[in-house]
Amino acid sequence: MLEAVESKMREYIAELENDEVAKLFEALPHGKRLRAKLVLKVAKSDDRAVVLAAVIEMIHAASLLHDDVIDDAMTRRGVPSMNATEGSKQAIMMGDILYSKGFEELTAFERKIASTVARAVTQLSIGELMDVRLSDRFNPDVAAYMRMIYQKTAALIEATAASAALLAGKDEKIYGIYGKNLGIAFQIIDDILDITQTSERLGKPAMHDFEEGKTTLPYIYLYESLDETAKERLVSLHRKPLTDEERAWITGMMEETGALRRAYLYAKELGEEAVALMEGEGETSLAEIVTAMIEREF
Ligand code: FPP
Ligand code: MG
Repeated sequence: MLEAVESKMREYIAELENDEVAKLFEALPHGKRLRAKLVLKVAKSDDRAVVLAAVIEMIHAASLLHDDVIDDAMTRRGVPSMNATEGSKQAIMMGDILYSKGFEELTAFERKIASTVARAVTQLSIGELMDVRLSDRFNPDVAAYMRMIYQKTAALIEATAASAALLAGKDEKIYGIYGKNLGIAFQIIDDILDITQTSERLGKPAMHDFEEGKTTLPYIYLYESLDETAKERLVSLHRKPLTDEERAWITGMMEETGALRRAYLYAKELGEEAVALMEGEGETSLAEIVTAMIEREF
């Protein structure tokens, strides 16, 4: 059924009758399609679910096109990003096109479904703004980080599950909490993999987050468990290109202090809450999505 979502997106792009848009769209890598899978699993795979999944994936793709411009990212999902190959102007406009076409199709849904998704997009934009602001200096504040990743990443996943539940006549609150926990855990695992995986595996440069200025959860936990001298060293490395020796020091300290493990256990705990909620609803495959996401390696 995921293939039906791909066809629906292609159909929407074809309606725009512009060769350049069609070409740029075809060049986009597909990614995991986590949000589409969620819609199809929560709302079963009828036509309306396929449309909702396509709309959400188009909005998500738009947000990544803009994010890569904002982050100066040269790769996305293992291939050169659109801002790298075509330039930032094209990437921004392609994001705007996907985003507004997605919204046009969203208006076909009842008001509560449409507003659930639309509100989440405002949240993700505010989350991105917070992410940029928090990257100015080393951020030791766990609460600020958690608020930011909720808005930047989890709000759309929460809205995905809740809107699909509304479509299927299920309890949108339970599915919303499931999506929120899944989304926060997803982002924390993403932040951990940035530290533990090689760039070949990630499809983007490793340890890029910290070099870019992002003090993700493992770095905050690391900071909390270091002595004053080591704290100063960590802060001095923030938002700078790292040498191999500095990378090795960070990785070593992450292991030694248990900072990575602590971040992983937190993500796992949130994931387990989501699994329990879905098991209570008899939704085995939604529970399995969480487990697979926590155990993923890239
Ligand atoms: C990836 O974060 C970015 C997001 C999840 C959200 C980006 C949101 C916007 C740019 C707001 C604009 C929205 C629209 C719809 C046009 P990341 O940089 O931590 O992850 P990455 O490693 O995948 O880049
Ligand atoms: Mg990014």
